[in-house]
Amino acid sequence: MVNYKLLTPGPLTTTRTVKEEMLTDHCTWDEDYKKITRSICSQLLELAHVSDDEYAAVLMQGSGTFGVESVISSVVPEDGHLAVLINGAYGRRIAQIAKYHKINTEAIEIPYDRYPTAEDAEKVITECGITHLAIVHCETTTGILNDIKSIGEVCKKHNVTFIVDAMSSFGAVDIPAAEYGIDFMISSANKCIQGVPGFSFIIARKSKLMECKGRARSLSLDLYDQWETMSKDGKWRFTSPTHVVLAFLKALDELKAEGGILGRNKRYTDNHDMLVEKMNEMGFKAYIRPEIQSPIITTFEYPEHIKFDFDDMYTFIKERGYAIYPGKLDGMNTFRIGNIGEIYLDDIEKLCGIIKEYVNTKLS
Ligand SMILES: Cc1ncc(COP(=O)(O)O)c(C=O)c1O
Repeated sequence: MVNYKLLTPGPLTTTRTVKEEMLTDHCTWDEDYKKITRSICSQLLELAHVSDDEYAAVLMQGSGTFGVESVISSVVPEDGHLAVLINGAYGRRIAQIAKYHKINTEAIEIPYDRYPTAEDAEKVITECGITHLAIVHCETTTGILNDIKSIGEVCKKHNVTFIVDAMSSFGAVDIPAAEYGIDFMISSANKCIQGVPGFSFIIARKSKLMECKGRARSLSLDLYDQWETMSKDGKWRFTSPTHVVLAFLKALDELKAEGGILGRNKRYTDNHDMLVEKMNEMGFKAYIRPEIQSPIITTFEYPEHIKFDFDDMYTFIKERGYAIYPGKLDGMNTFRIGNIGEIYLDDIEKLCGIIKEYVNTKLS
């Protein structure tokens, strides 16, 4: 098997120590295991700068989409009216989930290279009588970082429930949930906390969560029920991904050791800055302008100065130890490089050396 590092939006390259935690089999009703779940939940609240008086952390089996679907299908009532501010594929996915559950939804599409503004939120809320508003924080489709603070202020003003998909940003970008007026925030184990795939988690405002009793449109994704069971003593409602949970606890320790979210943000930002600088030098242009670009993942347009074939370059890079990602934009040729996971400047330097080698083969 080829062993390569992942420069992708997740799953990410994780540390050996995180992976080694998965060598232990754990009993799910054992007190030690339940304690681990309780510790994870309280650490997640700390990372979101909220107290357990006001907020709860709920872990949900499945990938990130399961977490998003759990929130959308459990939180919006029958007579609710959801707005989704969309500037990428993951915003679209939220609207698609709502459609599956027959939720009355306004899907507001915005060009993918700009972010939804407070005015966009104000307009849809006041014109359509919106009760719930959802947005993606870092749209991993492009790497753009949306302005959730301003949108949150508008939601607060109109008493609209504010749902944030912070899948690819939580752990790497500081998100003070209460200060931003967030009612439900979703992320997953295999993103910037640098665990492995297997569960998502939701940071939920308790007063709003309590209103969701009996509201869910799905048994397995019932957010209220999941919380009610988990909050008793840390036992999960159905079989939990035990190995993944142990790995996640270790990943949280390692995040702390790196200096928490600020420390991790610095490493990812340094990775991103070096990447863009070196890619620019080689004639690759970033799709998102720097002021609104996240340190998470960067989209590059296909270069015009060489005959470019992404699959060919992908294979060339993979054979030399790294995996990058195709683009996700309709009608535009792009590819993406992730800056997240156990990736350092040395990796970015090596990657750019490999890309330079590839470009030179096309120029000669
Ligand atoms: C912003 C965002 N939302 C949702 C998802 C979906 O997560 P998953 O693929 O784990 O279901 C992703 C995945 O990359 C994402 O980046």
